[in-house]
Amino acid sequence: MHFTLAFLYAAIPFLTTASALTVPPASRSPAPSARGIAVPIAKHSRSYRSGTVDPVALQRGMYASYDKILRGFDAYYENTGQRHPSQPAGHSSLPLGLSRRKSSPDGLDDDDNELWYGKISVGTPATEYKVDFDTGSSDIFLPGVDCTENCDNHTMYDPSASSTSQDRDATFKLTYGDGSSVEGEQYTDVVTCAGLTAKAQALGAANTYSTGFSSAQFPADGLMGMGFQEISQFKSPPFFQTLIEDGQVTDQVFGFKLAESGSELFLGGTNPALYTGDFTYVDVTTEGYWQTNFDSIAVNGSIPLFQKSSCIIDTGTTLIIGPEAAVNAFYAQIPYAAPLVFDGSSVGATSGLYTIPCDFNSTINLSFNKTAFSISPDTFMLGLDETILDTIKLIPADTTTNTCIGGLGFLPSLPPLPFWIIGDVFMRNVYTAFDVGNKRVGFANLNRGR
Ligand SMILES: *[C@@H]1O[C@H](CO)[C@@H](O)[C@H](O)[C@H]1NC(C)=O
Ligand SMILES: *[C@@H]1O[C@H](CO)[C@@H](O)[C@H](O)[C@H]1NC(C)=O
Ligand SMILES: *[C@@H]1O[C@H](CO)[C@@H](O)[C@H](O)[C@H]1NC(C)=O
Ligand SMILES: *[C@@H]1O[C@H](CO)[C@@H](O)[C@H](O)[C@H]1NC(C)=O
Ligand SMILES: *[C@@H]1O[C@H](CO)[C@@H](O)[C@H](O)[C@H]1NC(C)=O
Repeated sequence: MHFTLAFLYAAIPFLTTASALTVPPASRSPAPSARGIAVPIAKHSRSYRSGTVDPVALQRGMYASYDKILRGFDAYYENTGQRHPSQPAGHSSLPLGLSRRKSSPDGLDDDDNELWYGKISVGTPATEYKVDFDTGSSDIFLPGVDCTENCDNHTMYDPSASSTSQDRDATFKLTYGDGSSVEGEQYTDVVTCAGLTAKAQALGAANTYSTGFSSAQFPADGLMGMGFQEISQFKSPPFFQTLIEDGQVTDQVFGFKLAESGSELFLGGTNPALYTGDFTYVDVTTEGYWQTNFDSIAVNGSIPLFQKSSCIIDTGTTLIIGPEAAVNAFYAQIPYAAPLVFDGSSVGATSGLYTIPCDFNSTINLSFNKTAFSISPDTFMLGLDETILDTIKLIPADTTTNTCIGGLGFLPSLPPLPFWIIGDVFMRNVYTAFDVGNKRVGFANLNRGR
């Protein structure tokens, strides 16, 4: 069996060095528990640096999310024999975005989304790896020991050194916008996270990594997908679903807190210390992505826009990404908001992003199942547009000018996605429960006391 479709979205070019980043130590003893267990996770971002943000990197992140979604549509078809109900005609198998996109100046054209990563161990004897936890894909992927390109300084998976590894006699190949690829072999092996063990977990061992995965740019070793099996390129249960099958968790839920610090993935429930009040749940409409509906977005409680829209909840996407017309209508409500146009950039003039005043102080409410959750101005306003820093040095900084970047964008000149992608800009404001057993997503207010 040959897998020629790309399943992997992430290869994150970072400017800072991987060595400066560490995953916080486990705060609990790693023993399986019917009450669930916490996995500390760390964040890494390429787009943000001390109050400034790189719009080119943000745009690349949006494209990477788009490509990931199209790869998931392909996998959905492979798994179910049917087109994903949200896949519009015109979205063909290989990402249209890839062919339309020019390579970025540094030659990297992979994923600039934020990365939320933590530790897992794989094999017998166990070896520890760092993986990016991604709710927008469904497979595990590590650099293999035979990897010859861009794998230096990563911990590499050696199936022959693991007594529990099984070769699945299947390959995979992932193609990126810059023409590079990630390819390798599929195996099953024992995968453990925070003491919870999946016995015969499907995983990929890459023998080629793309440049965006090199250790200088990608602080994790690999990825762990946390979506549904319908979008698994390996046609196999994702890690959390294997934990359920293996009886490792009684509560078929995992929870995420994504924040500057104290971020956590909780397996087998939710961590009550990190949220207050009850969860508001919305049902998953199509199993694949964590896809559901939201009611509206409103600025300062004005007339809500976009009644009932489909969306996916994705830890692997930085921004909120919506349809062009909706995004334009949204920013029309914000005084001084203006489309950000790349001047002379290789990535095209229309960025899909907007500039807003740096003293932006409006509350944006996103409503799910009749309950509104606020996106704080802090998380929505992403920072000063780095590309105008030189101009600002000449002009005294005036915070009322629209030189900061807003956290909602659209993908220019591509067939629109049929749903919004709700990423970190929203998720950083709530505690999110991914309820696999009941096929629903829950949001609760963050415990701000922590
Ligand atoms: C691997 O790490 C060493 C030591 O930190 C460093 O000198 C080397 O450049 C790294 N190699 C790559 C390919 O990043
Ligand atoms: C809204 O929440 C209720 C209670 O949890 C649930 O029964 C209902 O299915 C939810 N509605 C949607 C559209 O998800
Ligand atoms: C926005 O959401 C917050 C949090 O739920 C709520 O307190 C506030 O009343 C909402 N504002 C409007 C105008 O709906
Ligand atoms: C933002 O607006 C709120 C009132 O909605 C006010 O309390 C707060 O001081 C304002 N912050 C800034 C920085 O203007
Ligand atoms: C929202 O309210 C804040 C605080 O009162 C105000 O500064 C801001 O201009 C308002 N935004 C919009 C879009 O009306």
